Amino acid sequence: MSEHVLVERERGLLTLRLNRPDKKNALTRAMYAGLGEALSQAERDSDVRAVLLTGGTECFTSGNDVADFIQAPPTGPDSEVFRFMRTLFDFAKPIVAAVSGPAVGIGTTLLLHCDLVYVSRDARLKMPFVSLGLCPEFGSSLILPRLLGHARATELLLLGEAFGGEQAEAWGIANQVLDDGAATLAKAREMALGFQRLAPTAVLDGKRLMRAPGREELRRVIEEEAALFGQRLRSPEAIEALSAFMQRRPADFSRFA
Ligand code: COA
Repeated sequence: MSEHVLVERERGLLTLRLNRPDKKNALTRAMYAGLGEALSQAERDSDVRAVLLTGGTECFTSGNDVADFIQAPPTGPDSEVFRFMRTLFDFAKPIVAAVSGPAVGIGTTLLLHCDLVYVSRDARLKMPFVSLGLCPEFGSSLILPRLLGHARATELLLLGEAFGGEQAEAWGIANQVLDDGAATLAKAREMALGFQRLAPTAVLDGKRLMRAPGREELRRVIEEEAALFGQRLRSPEAIEALSAFMQRRPADFSRFA
């Protein structure tokens, strides 16, 4: 397990806490591998009734580690990030997310695959993929236009506009907005613990039924996005944008036709 992912167990609730505060919980390959492995184990362990995913009370995650993107871009379906995404997509038990502060890139798109999402008022969600020379990922190009309409999805996915906790709640991306990080984590934990009182197989059946419509289409879109994302990561546009982030300067796309 990565030192940057803390795994806590409280009765039937497994909590996965991102813990890399100096880099705003940016996700490395080791962290994706740790998260994927913890989810797989939770799937097999019949005592685990639900999973809580959090970055603590200050920051959810700044998304994929940008240095990793430059030095070791994920190359295919067996890369850590894509394996993690597949495990999350296929996870049969309820997953609850508690989001405070920044939730960038995959930090926002993974929420679309959680079952309950609680956000703090200061949450700052953002999907800057196109600004980074990349493309939407993890089914967001299908899910968000259907959820929000094409026009609003364009603001979020092409322009990469940030939005807050209240908007996430109003748009149906989150269940509820809470005043601060501590209240958000407490609410998410309370709701996740609630699954313990329910009949476990009935919960699994309910989740499977709700996730079933359009699932194979969504899986195909996720694969198509992942293949394009891998190509775009090696594109000169993305290399310029990612290098600009590391060098703390604005990206300059003026030389690209
Ligand atoms: N990958 C690697 N390092 C990251 C990172 C990322 N995704 N996000 C932040 N960091 C690092 C910064 O480089 C900085 O490192 P340093 O102290 O060694 O210089 C540290 O984390 C703190 O980040 P900083 O930007 O100074 O904090 P902030 O509070 O001003 O802003 C964010 C926080 C999350 C809003 C900002 O860092 C950000 O926008 N990051 C997003 C990067 C991104 O585009 N991710 C999506 C990838 S698809």
